[in-house]
Amino acid sequence: MVLHRSSTMWARLALVVIASLLITVDSSQEIMKNLTIKFAKPLEDCKKEIDLPESVITDFKNFWKEGYEFTSRQTGCAILCLSSKLELLDQELKLHHGKAQEFAMKHGADEAMAKQLVDMIHSCVLSTPDDANDECSKALKVVSCFKKKIHDLNWAPDADLLVGEVLAEI
Ligand SMILES: *[C@@H]1O[C@H](CO)[C@@H](O)[C@H](O)[C@H]1NC(C)=O
Repeated sequence: MVLHRSSTMWARLALVVIASLLITVDSSQEIMKNLTIKFAKPLEDCKKEIDLPESVITDFKNFWKEGYEFTSRQTGCAILCLSSKLELLDQELKLHHGKAQEFAMKHGADEAMAKQLVDMIHSCVLSTPDDANDECSKALKVVSCFKKKIHDLNWAPDADLLVGEVLAEI
């Protein structure tokens, strides 16, 4: 009897743990979706300033597709442009950690998630070899690395769902 009761308790506890894990992953995906839409928002302005080819739009459309490899170096330039418009970079075109964390928190991430995102980008910056004189290529490699980490955490927003929303903003 006692054994029975405690196993029911464990089963309930396990359900609660599983449910909250699912909710966390699900809400992280929602937040990532939010962050992606907000991040891509100045794309129209960037498109006017730097001549972005259609391949960049294709890269953005496929951004969260698992295993998708970016096709255009210009996508890296666009990412730098977006980051600078959102004031996420310092004068040396390096990620400003405080501002990046603030951006994530403003759009739904809690402090822990925001810190984790910044740490992931930072570790990608450190592991990406310096592309002398080519900031765009470097940015693209950093983003590819970050993208992979997000997929590993299962935080990537639904790729198809996002396309319409990001493009609606452009
Ligand atoms: C998305 O961002 C807005 C602020 O831009 C925020 O009010 C909203 O709660 C966020 N949504 C989610 C799911 O985090």
